[in-house]
Amino acid sequence: MGIIYDSATQTFHLQGKSSSYIMQLIKSKYLAHVHWGRQVRGSHSGGLLAIRRRCSFSPSTDPNDLALSLDTLPQEFPSYGSSDFRVPAYQVQMVNGTTVSELTYESHRIYQGKQQLEGLPATYTENDGEAESIDIVMTDQQIGLKVTLTYTVFRDYDAVTRSVRFENVGDHSIKLLRALSFGMDLPHAEFDMLHLSGTWARERHIERRPIVTGGSVIESRRGASSHSLNPFIALLSKQADEEHGEAYGFSLVYSGSFIAQAEVDPYGTTRVVMGINPFDFSWLLESGQCFQTPEAVLVYSAEGIGGMSRTYHKLYRTRLCRGEFRDQSRPILINNWEATYFNFNADKIEELAEVGKELGLELLVLDDGWFGKRDNDKSSLGDWFVDQNKLPKGMPDLASRVNSHGLEFGLWFEPEMVSPDSNLYRSHPDWCLHVPGRRRTEARQQLVLDYSRQDVRDYIVTVITDILASCPISYVKWDMNRNMTEIGSALLPSERQRETAHRYMLGLYEVMERITSAFPKVLFESCSGGGGRFDPGMLYYMPQTWTSDNTDAVERLKIQYGTSIVYPISAMGAHVSAVPNHQVHRNTPLDMRGHAAMSGNFGYELDLTAFTEADKEAVKRQVALYKELRPLIQFGEFYRLSSPFQGVDAAWMFVSEDRKEALVAYFQVLAQPNPSLKKLRLKGLEASKNYCVYDADASDEAMEFFGGDQLMHIGLHLPIWKGDFRSRLYRLRMEE
Ligand code: DGJ
Repeated sequence: MGIIYDSATQTFHLQGKSSSYIMQLIKSKYLAHVHWGRQVRGSHSGGLLAIRRRCSFSPSTDPNDLALSLDTLPQEFPSYGSSDFRVPAYQVQMVNGTTVSELTYESHRIYQGKQQLEGLPATYTENDGEAESIDIVMTDQQIGLKVTLTYTVFRDYDAVTRSVRFENVGDHSIKLLRALSFGMDLPHAEFDMLHLSGTWARERHIERRPIVTGGSVIESRRGASSHSLNPFIALLSKQADEEHGEAYGFSLVYSGSFIAQAEVDPYGTTRVVMGINPFDFSWLLESGQCFQTPEAVLVYSAEGIGGMSRTYHKLYRTRLCRGEFRDQSRPILINNWEATYFNFNADKIEELAEVGKELGLELLVLDDGWFGKRDNDKSSLGDWFVDQNKLPKGMPDLASRVNSHGLEFGLWFEPEMVSPDSNLYRSHPDWCLHVPGRRRTEARQQLVLDYSRQDVRDYIVTVITDILASCPISYVKWDMNRNMTEIGSALLPSERQRETAHRYMLGLYEVMERITSAFPKVLFESCSGGGGRFDPGMLYYMPQTWTSDNTDAVERLKIQYGTSIVYPISAMGAHVSAVPNHQVHRNTPLDMRGHAAMSGNFGYELDLTAFTEADKEAVKRQVALYKELRPLIQFGEFYRLSSPFQGVDAAWMFVSEDRKEALVAYFQVLAQPNPSLKKLRLKGLEASKNYCVYDADASDEAMEFFGGDQLMHIGLHLPIWKGDFRSRLYRLRMEE
């Protein structure tokens, strides 16, 4: 592992666990992309790049070398305006209005470890031996632009992180019109692109399509990473499946508007770029000022999509998430939202805690409606003071009543929002994003606070801190229920208005850093109408996210399966809710709802006090079982076995790192008439060892024994069930 620079050929070789990322300086000036993929040996003699003369429509920068054209050279951080006609990674505008720039190599520095990005979330190392980094400095001397490309390669992963720092080292201001986090030109176009799309209550469905000449773009213009498209794409070799083929993952550690693009040129080169969406973005760099882009995390897998996902899972779980809860089991909770919505009082919440205790639950979360005059979603966001009508004795009293039943107490906030019907808005009507003279478009009767403003941020930090310090709150759900419109800030000058959305994100990250570091013992869960901001940026501050507002077990199979393409299981909140389900009105059995929710951070979100005795017994068993399985589920390796996007069933499994224990979850969504006999091929087991296999909900006397090789290569017999919505958890234990 490490970074080797071969000065004879001016080649940079970044070696990951089993992969290589190679770049080369061409004519000591241009930084070309040579290879990213399977590992090759460290010393080589260059000559890996074929540079061919094309035609006059791909001009050369050197009259003495017509083969050298920026339009055909595979590059690492392409410019705009001086002969490369493909999509650029950045674009600048000078005071004279022109937009042409060209970067050439100036210097580089290789160092152990990884430096953090100022004010932005990013992956990290715990000691310098875990990674090596390189800063490559490129400049455009004519306009005084210095661009530092930073790469980090991790010792134990096939992952390379990239980010860019722009610095104005000249005398005149420069406007960044586009400042993406990386560019890269892959040598062919035989790829499918996979991405995650959806909407509210239907997040992160998997889409896969061939890339063709021209651009394949996914983006958010919503001021949030969004339900619609996740800041992630993968390029897959045509044959790639869960276990085989090459997968190249690109994931952006950012929670705002983004773009990811794969552009195929006429010669079959695929240019990939990703970063802050340049749409309605610009950033003014006065002389001496810098701009830091978010980090992109690039993962290579020669073992298909599953291999790529497991790299992201472990890297994000252990080197992106932070804090005490990073490695700690997450509590089983009861959330009152779907149980009561806004209609609760202290007695009702205490009753939920009382039954929760009986069932073995560990945490009660009081959701929306405890503050201001919030009896519906029409008012009070911003007035973070306890509603004395619902909770006359205040939050400390309620927290201690919940604690007295042995449950921890958690609380919901939506700190980025303000209701027009609130004291906060009445006192500070300019504290929201808005454009003078224009309608302030409401969504869910609320407006977005202007987090680009320090006064707004300080106010929010103070009020949230006051509540968190007022009583033993051990969990916070941080919600955000609309996207940005009329994006403008009352405090920014006209030439900086297009910075508002990114300044908002920087402000949000600052607020989350201040609050989470002031309360290190609190487990924070992010949420945005479910999974509207399920992204790596949020995971840096809050190690888990409410996966979706859709709690229907059938819909959750798709949502959780899609989410697992990038994000670790320990990041996914998953709750059992009532039937008929509140989002899709479907009736599914408690078993299946339990099995789906137990495949994430488990909890309940229904009125426990309405349970029959039989339901209570079933829930007690679910809770006890989850407690046994929790380390395996939350921290084991995850394998997708059967996709809910194809066919009528779904399956996945969790395997402990030492492979001694595993859990298979199988779901029959729809029954089929006279079905074929199905076998499920398992993954990740020790082929040479035997495993005992049994139904996790039944007694382990009915166990069967199979070789790991049999289970993986022949498969586990699946039951033939009549009826829809059936499921089973199989436990596997390796025989010593
Ligand atoms: C949206 C969240 O996703 C729900 O879980 C709930 O907290 C509501 N907001 C409350 O308004």
